[in-house]
Amino acid sequence: MDQMKELDNVLVQADEELKDVSDLNSLQQKKANFLGKKGPIAQVMATMRELSQEAKKELGQKSNSVKVALEELFEKKKKAIEDAIINKKLASETIDVTLPGVNVPTGSIHPLNRTIQELEDLYISMGYTVAEGPEIETDEYCFEKLNLPKGHPARDMQDTFYINPELLLRSQTSPVQVRTMLEKKGEPIKIICPGKVYRRDADDATHSHQFIQCEGLVLGKNVTLADLKGALLEMAKKMLGEEREIRLRPSFFPFTEPSTEVDVSCGLCGGKGCNVCKNTGWIEVLGAGMVNNNVLKMCGYNPDEIQGFAFGIGVERIAMLKYRIDDIRNFYTNDLRFLNQFKEVK
Ligand code: PHE
Repeated sequence: MDQMKELDNVLVQADEELKDVSDLNSLQQKKANFLGKKGPIAQVMATMRELSQEAKKELGQKSNSVKVALEELFEKKKKAIEDAIINKKLASETIDVTLPGVNVPTGSIHPLNRTIQELEDLYISMGYTVAEGPEIETDEYCFEKLNLPKGHPARDMQDTFYINPELLLRSQTSPVQVRTMLEKKGEPIKIICPGKVYRRDADDATHSHQFIQCEGLVLGKNVTLADLKGALLEMAKKMLGEEREIRLRPSFFPFTEPSTEVDVSCGLCGGKGCNVCKNTGWIEVLGAGMVNNNVLKMCGYNPDEIQGFAFGIGVERIAMLKYRIDDIRNFYTNDLRFLNQFKEVK
């Protein structure tokens, strides 16, 4: 029977034609061509009427099995095309994790911030807490309550930026002592306060109109000058090296009595004398002293019960000694050639 052969041929032909199909639209089209109403199977079936009962049955079965086979063939091809599409997509999205990464330029912690952080870590480890105060201060807190009434000659020690007669840019972090004492109302205190201060100084290698101090204040029963020396010696050794020594020279600050200027032994010459320490073997790093009784009283403390010490560390001074920087202006010009040197510093 010719029709039977024709049906076999349909399969062979479909197989052949599908070889070139690579997208789902064309596949759909082909499927419609082969299995649709005008397709070869439908055409063969149209000739059935002339056949015997026996032949009809045979042809019917045959056409059904060819249809099933065709459908399987198209389904298989569809799956193959879909797999190919997915594989292509995956290949295009593959990341080679062994390729070197893109280097994103990073900054570094500014040497002054780094120094402040180290000071904070050090004093926190000794039981201090960190206090803060405003950079715009009142004359009362910055001077009067620190035993510096208006017209006091010692006000000339700090040439101050005034906003109006009562408000100023703080010239020292000592007003944070005042604020803390007024808040604590006679209770013991152990704080440091790092922060920016301002003075009407002409900028040069060792002066800046804006710089950073780290104030310290410890008040309690039986706090002595020896405790002050211990707190500062520890700082000198931890910040600048275990071999460092400190010495206290008598000095004057209106808010402390006795007052002292604190020097640290020169790290370059080891104390023998060189041009960095101007042949003295010592470098001045801070002012300190026992809190003046007048200050204690003005801030609500009874000097017969509680006394203590205060110090004001020059943060730039410490950073300059630590990193061997010879011009304070380097900290404030933000020259990347300078700042990049601190990327590796730990
Ligand atoms: N505030 C002082 C200054 O700026 C430093 C200092 C602080 C001295 C605390 C004694 C006690 O010069």
